[in-house]
Amino acid sequence: MVAAKYIVGNWKLHGNERENAARFAALKAGCRPSDALAVCVPFPYLAQAQQALQGSTIGWGAQNVSEHAKGAFTGEVSATMLADFGCSCAIVGHSERRSLYGEDDAAVARKAQAVATVGMTPIVCVGETLTERERGETAQVVTRQLAAVLAHASPETKHKLVVAYEPVWAIGSGQAALEEDVREVHALLRKQLNQAGVTGTRLLYGGSVKAGNAAALLNITDVDGALVGGASLNVEEFLAIAQAAQA
Ligand code: 13P
Repeated sequence: MVAAKYIVGNWKLHGNERENAARFAALKAGCRPSDALAVCVPFPYLAQAQQALQGSTIGWGAQNVSEHAKGAFTGEVSATMLADFGCSCAIVGHSERRSLYGEDDAAVARKAQAVATVGMTPIVCVGETLTERERGETAQVVTRQLAAVLAHASPETKHKLVVAYEPVWAIGSGQAALEEDVREVHALLRKQLNQAGVTGTRLLYGGSVKAGNAAALLNITDVDGALVGGASLNVEEFLAIAQAAQA
């Protein structure tokens, strides 16, 4: 059987207890046994996610993590703490973290290692900005971002990675990347992973994935799932994306 496409929702800085409760209930009610779903929620709601989703097939995780295991790092949250709340995954290196909070390739690599060390799946985001794209630097940028993670990862960690290609200009724009561009970048990432001796990595696409374009995007060779922002807040649409993944 072909593995189900992995559909991950990134709720970003949205939600509250009441809205989340409704979303978790609707997700549980609408998710099919064959779906592979996860939602990455804000830190304070991990306990709520755990309570609501444990025993279901839906995973939950965080949107960021500290690179440190413990210590005097005010405001940080460690991977061990995430594991305490049953997280199966954590996003690392999202472009919003890179651009707004100054996370560089080296920090992202350390975070990926921290997540994998506690047995969770690091969802490593790579992607070029519009300027980089216009300069023809897409391949160079995504390769550099992934190389930093691979260089720092232990042999075990390399095999636990999920890589999400999120072209920065496509995020929240309503305009997903063109299919041929997604195909090209995913093929490049696959080749880079293979050359590092890493096979079977799930490669997700993210950036304005909606119910309407999900089937076409998820049908592309080497697209093994999606990282969904805005559309993941609408459970009906998120589930429709999961359905499209199996169509
Ligand atoms: P949108 O789906 O809202 O474009 O966001 C994508 C994203 O950043 C997921 O991590």
